[in-house]
Amino acid sequence: MRRIAWISIKSFGLAAIVLAMGAGLAAAQTPAKPAGKSQNACINCHQNLPGKLGDPVKKFKKDVHAQKGITCVGCHGGDQTSSNFAVIKSKENGFIGRPKVTDIPELCSKCHSHLEYMRKFSPSIDVGQLSSYKTSVHGKLLAKGDTKVATCASCHGSHGILPASNAASSVYPPNVSETCSKCHSDTNYMKGYKIPTSQHNDYLQSIHAELLMVKRDLSAPTCNDCHGNHGAFPPTVNSVSGMCGQCHVNNRNLFDKSPHKKAFGALRLPECAVCHSNHKVLRASDKMVGDTPPSVCVSCHAKGSKQLQTAANIRAQLEGLKNVIGQANNKLESAEHLGMEVSEAKFNMKEARSALIKVRTEIHTFSFPDVKKKTEEGKKVAEGALQAALAAIQEFHGRRRWVIFPIVLTIFLAGALYLKLREIEGNDRNRG
Ligand code: HEC
Ligand code: HEC
Ligand code: HEC
Ligand code: HEC
Ligand code: HEC
Ligand code: HEC
Ligand code: HEC
Ligand code: HEC
Ligand code: HEC
Repeated sequence: MRRIAWISIKSFGLAAIVLAMGAGLAAAQTPAKPAGKSQNACINCHQNLPGKLGDPVKKFKKDVHAQKGITCVGCHGGDQTSSNFAVIKSKENGFIGRPKVTDIPELCSKCHSHLEYMRKFSPSIDVGQLSSYKTSVHGKLLAKGDTKVATCASCHGSHGILPASNAASSVYPPNVSETCSKCHSDTNYMKGYKIPTSQHNDYLQSIHAELLMVKRDLSAPTCNDCHGNHGAFPPTVNSVSGMCGQCHVNNRNLFDKSPHKKAFGALRLPECAVCHSNHKVLRASDKMVGDTPPSVCVSCHAKGSKQLQTAANIRAQLEGLKNVIGQANNKLESAEHLGMEVSEAKFNMKEARSALIKVRTEIHTFSFPDVKKKTEEGKKVAEGALQAALAAIQEFHGRRRWVIFPIVLTIFLAGALYLKLREIEGNDRNRG
């Protein structure tokens, strides 16, 4: 009898189950495929169910939890070993069905916040996700009953969860911005909130995204590097420098000591993001400094002010250094073309170019004397190389003079000899 019922369930699929259950057949009589200790009643039945009821089984095959031997009951509760549907899905066995959105963080964290349990699988795994999450804007709004915010499952998925280091994971760095943008770029979904929905679009145009997503340089930041993995918080205006400074250490140190740190704090301006933007960070250019647009300085400092004078002076220093470097490069190339040995001077030019890079960082002091000092160091090296190139070129021309002299002498002697021979020949003919 049981066997026949099972076959009919299998062949009539979901409709049959629902009908059978709806027809008031006691759940106790609804048989599941007999499941031994090693079998999984949940999978055996759900793998034959359509759509949303069957998909979890397919996705779960490659899930990190499945790999660790965790099964459906790890999250949903229930008894996978029973063959009795009522027992399988009884409340007494902890079956929760589909978890409510507001319950998901606690659900995942019954394991993920449990230090001893988690350390059995991975001695170094972090167990702080829930406590960070609770401090995030997402976590705080969820606690107030807002179910549109991100929970663990919005970022990681619920079935098919992969380690963050797996390139196919939704939280693998180049994939993160797409994961966040599911909600944050959806103007309809975010309509009730008073924040822009342009972050992902802006980010995609940034130098950071170009490095991370096109060049696959994992040292460039994506959303969670600036907002935290689980703490998803908007940085407060006076923490931006610290946030960017995780990676741009020198820029941060100089900026923090500059007059702008205090001035921007008082005006509640977001530090680095004022000049570089937060999401659409572009490659820096020397045109950003100076007393004419597109310099960023002109947006705050008045024409003719001493601050713009500083900006112009800094720019002039930069152009000066670039100029010497350009000249030196030119002359070194000419010298090499003539076959002169200038490898040492060429090597020294590395130092001049690195000085130029340092000057661009030194700009964050917004102090002319400091920038000038760094510029002079670079100029000295480049000027040295320029002199070496010029000397080599001069030496080449000098050598040529010495090479030409014997040639002229040889031609002269050859000419004289020829004339002499003709003279002797003529004498002989006259005689004959
Ligand atoms: C004999 C077949 C069968 C077995 C065994 C079974 N399920 Fe189901 N499950 C269903 C059907 C049919 C539905 C859809 C109808 C319903 O919600 O009860 C369902 C629904 C669910 C849902 C969604 C509930 C919701 O509220 O949307 C979850 C989650 C679930 N099952 C998990 C499990 C787990 C975990 C196990 C093992 C402990 C399991 N199932 C065992 C047939 C089965
Ligand atoms: C790591 C925890 C976890 C495991 C393990 C897990 N699930 Fe789920 N499952 C969830 C979460 C979370 C949801 C709710 C998803 C949501 O609301 O977006 C869910 C939802 C579901 C649903 C409802 C789908 C829907 O869209 O209505 C079904 C059915 C289901 N799971 C079945 C299973 C089956 C079968 C297994 C074992 C193969 C399983 N789950 C393993 C966490 C898990
Ligand atoms: C807003 C998106 C988001 C939410 C919400 C979220 N995570 Fe994460 N999670 C991430 C990202 C991004 C990473 C990858 C971090 C990295 O690159 O190292 C991550 C990493 C992890 C890791 C790997 C170890 C670690 O901490 O780096 C675990 C485990 C984890 N999350 C569990 C959870 C749990 C449990 C919750 C719910 C309490 C949760 N996550 C909520 C985005 C999220
Ligand atoms: C039954 C316990 C349990 C539950 C419930 C659970 N997990 Fe896990 N999870 C683990 C274990 C164990 C690992 C493997 C840890 C390891 O070996 O690094 C893991 C690994 C992970 C990883 C990969 C971590 C990494 O190395 O990058 C993520 C992400 C993750 N879980 C997210 C979730 C989410 C999201 C939920 C809730 C929907 C959840 N887990 C529910 C036990 C659990
Ligand atoms: C399931 C949808 C969803 C996903 C996925 C999601 N978020 Fe959110 N997020 C929201 C909602 C809704 C808010 C609340 C808007 C508000 O703050 O008023 C929010 C708020 C925020 C805030 C605070 C904004 C503010 O100033 O108030 C930040 C920062 C944030 N999310 C970052 C992220 C990052 C980073 C990711 C990806 C790692 C992410 N979010 C993924 C829905 C989502
Ligand atoms: C390089 C660092 C950085 C990256 C990468 C980044 N953000 Fe931001 N984000 C910021 C800063 C800084 C602010 C706050 C600026 C302010 O206070 O004016 C911010 C603000 C926000 C806000 C608040 C609303 C707003 O637009 O001002 C949200 C939401 C947000 N970011 C989401 C994201 C998402 C989603 C991504 C990935 C697509 C992302 N961020 C990538 C630095 C970053
Ligand atoms: C997780 C590390 C990380 C964070 C956080 C970060 N950046 Fe970057 N940033 C990089 C890397 C790596 C590069 C590429 C460096 C290169 O190629 O010269 C870069 C490049 C840049 C450039 C272009 C440099 C150039 O040579 O033109 C600017 C400007 C910049 N970042 C500003 C910022 C600002 C402003 C913030 C904060 C809102 C920030 N970054 C946050 C890692 C980071
Ligand atoms: C008042 C405007 C301003 C502020 C504030 C500012 N910068 Fe800059 N930044 C510039 C200018 C101008 C340049 C252009 C240098 C060049 O290319 O000549 C620059 C260049 C850069 C570069 C590329 C050169 C380099 O050092 O590698 C990075 C990276 C950078 N800034 C990061 C930051 C970070 C991080 C902060 C915050 C701690 C910050 N900036 C604050 C104006 C600013
Ligand atoms: C967002 C507005 C803003 C931008 C952009 C800006 N500044 Fe300022 N700057 C200020 C404020 C405010 C102060 C403090 C009050 C003052 O001295 O005017 C200040 C102070 C200074 C000072 C110190 C003056 C003193 O006497 O101590 C210098 C120098 C300066 N800025 C140069 C620059 C340069 C160079 C740039 C462009 C790379 C620049 N600033 C971009 C707002 C800005």
